[in-house]
Amino acid sequence: MKPVQVVTLWWMLLLVSRLGAARKGSPEEASFYYGTFPRGFSWGVGSSAYQTEGAWDQDGKGPSIWDAFTHSGKGKVLGDETADVACDSYYKVQVSGGLSYSLCCLPLVCMRTVAQLISTFKSLPLSSLGYLLLCSQLLQVKYGGWQNVSMTSYFRDYADLCFEAFGDRVKHWITFGDPRAMAEKGYETGHHAPGLKLRGTGLYKAAHHIIKAHAQAWHSYNRTWRSKQQGLVGISLNCDWGEPVDIRNPKDIEAAERYLQFCLGWFANPIYAGDYPEVMKDHIGRKSKEQGLDMSRLPVFSLQEKSYIKGTSDFLGLGHFTTRYITERNYPSRQGPSYQNDRDLIELVDPNWPDLGSKWLYSVPWGFRRLLNFAKTQYGNPPIYVTENGASQKLHCTQLCDEWRIQYLKGYINEMLKAIKDGANVKGYTSWSLLDKFEWEKGYSERYGFYYVEFNDRNKPRYPKASVQYYKKIIAANGFPNPREVESWHLKALETCSINNQMLALEPLLSHMQMVTEIVVPTVCTLCVLIAAVLLTLLLRRQS
Ligand SMILES: *[C@@H]1O[C@H](CO)[C@@H](O)[C@H](O)[C@H]1NC(C)=O
Ligand SMILES: *[C@@H]1O[C@H](CO)[C@@H](O)[C@H](O)[C@H]1NC(C)=O
Repeated sequence: MKPVQVVTLWWMLLLVSRLGAARKGSPEEASFYYGTFPRGFSWGVGSSAYQTEGAWDQDGKGPSIWDAFTHSGKGKVLGDETADVACDSYYKVQVSGGLSYSLCCLPLVCMRTVAQLISTFKSLPLSSLGYLLLCSQLLQVKYGGWQNVSMTSYFRDYADLCFEAFGDRVKHWITFGDPRAMAEKGYETGHHAPGLKLRGTGLYKAAHHIIKAHAQAWHSYNRTWRSKQQGLVGISLNCDWGEPVDIRNPKDIEAAERYLQFCLGWFANPIYAGDYPEVMKDHIGRKSKEQGLDMSRLPVFSLQEKSYIKGTSDFLGLGHFTTRYITERNYPSRQGPSYQNDRDLIELVDPNWPDLGSKWLYSVPWGFRRLLNFAKTQYGNPPIYVTENGASQKLHCTQLCDEWRIQYLKGYINEMLKAIKDGANVKGYTSWSLLDKFEWEKGYSERYGFYYVEFNDRNKPRYPKASVQYYKKIIAANGFPNPREVESWHLKALETCSINNQMLALEPLLSHMQMVTEIVVPTVCTLCVLIAAVLLTLLLRRQS
């Protein structure tokens, strides 16, 4: 997900003292807001095909770039883990309620997962969001994946196939989820599939083609399917909030704005305003010149493309996890061209923020309200669906009483409620995520699930964490009705989890017993049959 700026102690200290001077009445002190969400607000929980499904080579599924990446040798993923089995969800589709499911692979796979969900639920809940994405290893090997502009028309064909097959039931389509990470981690740092390190160029080119592909899919839906299917097509962008370190320093304010434009504006500006943000064009253009190039490393949209792309999102999907303090980087970087370098800024964290199971993830609820309001003013108050928001814990943490996740949920959902009161048009919220799962280059070391998954057990059993109970209450009440009730949810959630904790503690015993039934019993039976056969043979010999 996010690259982490290594924050030196020196910077930390500096930040603390500057924050102290710059901020009296910091946003953290804002009070809790009791109230409910607009009627018809959608609630859901997200999941993702590659991260949970397993069955990587079953039923005609072609290999995805992630299958190839994780199978390609040592050092790609922590512990050299793969998601070949993951949560075994392909064989365990039994979830309920609003659900978003990302489909990552060949058309055949898209059918495989969605067809299975549809047959399970009869009809998909109206609020469900279907992700398209396209990460076929075949297209990667043959054409170079998103470096090749041909991908845009392959993507459109694939989208058409999904619209045709499932558009009668799926009414909210998301073309891409977190395309910034796809571009940056896939084509710049190489931390994600396809693992390319084309520093300073590959990511901008990939993003350029992804934006065009999104626009083609949207136009195709608008032209061919919308009148029949009456659905919506949007894109989902992940971005943390960037807050100026010193709100009285214009340089810091500019740097924080730049952080947001390089993050959200990179994709949202072309789609809502027809072109990349000015600040990206300026910075990347200037640096490219300094690096002796005669063209900017940021590709250019033609006039025709600009008008074709502008206005191609029926809603804005937003993924959001955490916040950074931002200050200008006022010393030259000695590294070569890169996305990090192009931004000329430094990301900092406040050491007082609660940190969670991923080293980049701090709980800073007030940043969420600011990001939602930023999206509202920047892009003309679009309908917003929050598509990802959640918190992780470490692999070895087998605590189902996830008090801190309850605090995170409560804080972030409350700030979203405040943003709606501010006027942001937020239509729905999808919490991330349903299950503990494969976390990309981190393997299974970070747990984001509402449900704990015991990966050591072949059956991958699931156990609800306390936050499940709490989230259910928020959904049932459509918000936070009053202090007394909200407090009672908290207590109830923590009561049930201790029982589940005891169950989980028995897990080694259970899997032992399972081994007994699955291995020892058949072995003993086989031995019995063999011995009986030998005895019978001896008996027959003796008689003859
Ligand atoms: C891009 O894809 C097309 C097929 O659509 C292929 O003919 C072409 O060789 C690819 N270009 C590169 C550089 O791989
Ligand atoms: C979308 O489709 C409608 C109805 O066919 C059409 O009027 C409109 O111009 C289309 N929008 C774009 C941007 O092509």
